[in-house]
Parts: sequence; C-alpha cells; structure tokens
Amino acid sequence: MHVKSPLEPAAFSLPNLRNPDPLNCLLSPPAAINTAMNVLITGASAGFGRAIAQRLVKAGHTVFATARRKDKLDALAAELGAKLMTFELDVRDRNASAALVQEIERSHGPIHALVNNAGLALGLGPAHQSSLDEWDTMIDTNIKGLVYMTHAVLPAMVERNHGWIVNLGSVAGTYPYPGGNVYGATKAFVHQFTLNLKSDLVGKKVRVTSIEPGLCGGTEFSVTRFGGDADKAANVYQGTEPITADDIAETVSWILSLPDHVNINTIEMMPTCQAPGAFAIARNAS
Ligand SMILES: NC(=O)c1ccc[n+]([C@@H]2O[C@H](COP(=O)([O-])OP(=O)(O)OC[C@H]3O[C@@H](n4cnc5c(N)ncnc54)[C@H](OP(=O)(O)O)[C@@H]3O)[C@@H](O)[C@H]2O)c1
Repeated sequence: MHVKSPLEPAAFSLPNLRNPDPLNCLLSPPAAINTAMNVLITGASAGFGRAIAQRLVKAGHTVFATARRKDKLDALAAELGAKLMTFELDVRDRNASAALVQEIERSHGPIHALVNNAGLALGLGPAHQSSLDEWDTMIDTNIKGLVYMTHAVLPAMVERNHGWIVNLGSVAGTYPYPGGNVYGATKAFVHQFTLNLKSDLVGKKVRVTSIEPGLCGGTEFSVTRFGGDADKAANVYQGTEPITADDIAETVSWILSLPDHVNINTIEMMPTCQAPGAFAIARNAS
C-alpha cells in the first residue's frame, strides 16, 4: 500500500488559511487536511480515541487504532474499512509499545502523527482513602504509557523533520478539585511534558500539543472512574450539556490540518455549563 508522505503535494485542496474567503469557509466541509497521513491513536476502542479514528478515516487518513479490547477494535474496523488497522496494545508495556511502532513503520511507512489518548481516572475519593494500586495504574497509563509511545515515535519524526504528537491532558492538570489527586497530577505531567518537548523541538517541524478538556460526556471515562457503576457515572452529567468526543475529534482534525510552521501548544476547552471553581475555605476548622 502506498501512503502519501506529507512532504508530497497535497492530495486534497487546502483552505487558504492566511487569506480565508469567508463564504468559502462557511461552505467548506469541516475536515480540511494537509494530505493523507498515517496516524497512530492510543485508546481507540472507546470515547475520544474512537471518535478521532472515525473522523480521521473519513477525512482520508490511514489510522492505526490501538487499545487493549480486541472486540471493540474489531467493531471499529468493521465500521471503517481498510483505512483503519487495529493493533492490541497495552501502553503500559514499554517493550510492546516500541515494538509496535517499529512494526508499523516497517510495514506501512512513517507514522506522521501520534495521538496519545489512552488514559483513565480511577476513583474520586480523598487521597488518604485512595488505593495505591489505582494510583499506580493511572501513573503507569497516563504518564508512563504516554512517554513510552512518544519515545518510540519521536526520533524518526525529528529525522524526517515532520510530525505531530497530540496528547490528551485535562483541565484536572491545571485546576485542583477534591478527589482529583493523582489523576490531576498525571495530567499536569502531560501538560508540562508537552511544553518541554516543544522546547526540545524548537526550529523543527515536529508539532506537539496538549489538549486539555473539561467535562466531556458520552464516553466510558466516568464509568471507568466509578468502577463500572453506570448510575454514578450518569449523575456526573445530569442536567449538563458537556462537550463530546466529536468535539475533541474535530479539534484534533483541525490541529493536523494546520500548516507546518504552526504549533498549537495547549488547548483548554470546556462546555459553556462549566467553569473553574472558587477556592475552598474551611471555617472554624479544628
Ligand atoms: N471524558 C472526559 O471527561 C475527559 C476529560 C479530560 C481528559 N480526558 C482524557 O481523554 C482521554 C480519553 O478519555 P475518554 O473520555 O475517551 O475515556 P474512555 O471512553 O474511557 O476511553 C479510554 C480509552 O483508553 C484506553 N486505555 C485505557 N487504559 C489503557 C491501556 N493501559 N493501554 C491502552 N489503552 C488503554 C481504553 O481502551 P481499552 O480499555 O480497550 O484498552 C479506551 O479506548 C483520557 O486520557 C482521559 O484522561 C477525558
């Protein structure tokens, strides 16, 4: 299979981003892309990852969709056809992550973009009542898994002087909330790691972004956080209009459509029904 390099001429008509024609912008389809690329997505079996895969395949990209649950990946492959290839991967497995990147690049050519999306929150209790195993799982997945994948793709991107790494952070990495303890701290890592990558990549056409969403509905995130308790998860979104996985997918698609000289460092996004909270004050605390 021949996959076009982003350095080859664009296969799709590019919008003129410097001099946009307002009417044309209004009438254009949403996914304006540079050219067909190879995109590796972690955590593509559900939620954001699945929506990103759907959107990018429909836009003409080839997607390598990875996650642990084979049945969910198979269902996505059946829906999206030959432009989606699936691979079982636990991002906590450092050797498997590196081996998969090597195997994909050997068989299918360069990975032009990596979307580090796999991640999870476990529990919402106070730190002193939390499970150390759950803390380990969040650190291993949200931090170490993301680092392993980044380390596996980065040298070849730098060598080609082209690529994107899009990381899924969270507003929990910036704004503390009760019970956010280790989950929020892992996302603070994602934020700072992304900015530090940017420092190392100065002058290179390898782009790095941290997308930091607030309340997002319609994914498995809260069900996972509450250990499979769907009612408890549903309560999180009751009476709200959260942002959706499609909103995140549109954001990723936009980032990948930007010209080579543009890097989006950080995007913080929230639904209109959410805002950062005030400081908590315990009065007359003993
Ligand atoms: N939803 C929100 O409100 C929200 C807000 C801010 C940030 N985020 C972040 O956005 C990302 C996606 O969230 P989401 O809402 O789409 O969650 P989701 O629906 O629960 O999906 C999480 C994905 O991560 C994968 N995953 C989990 N552990 C993994 C592991 N060890 N190895 C490989 N894949 C793993 C899961 O696949 P398998 O179980 O099949 O492996 C699944 O595909 C996460 O990083 C999350 O922290 C979410």
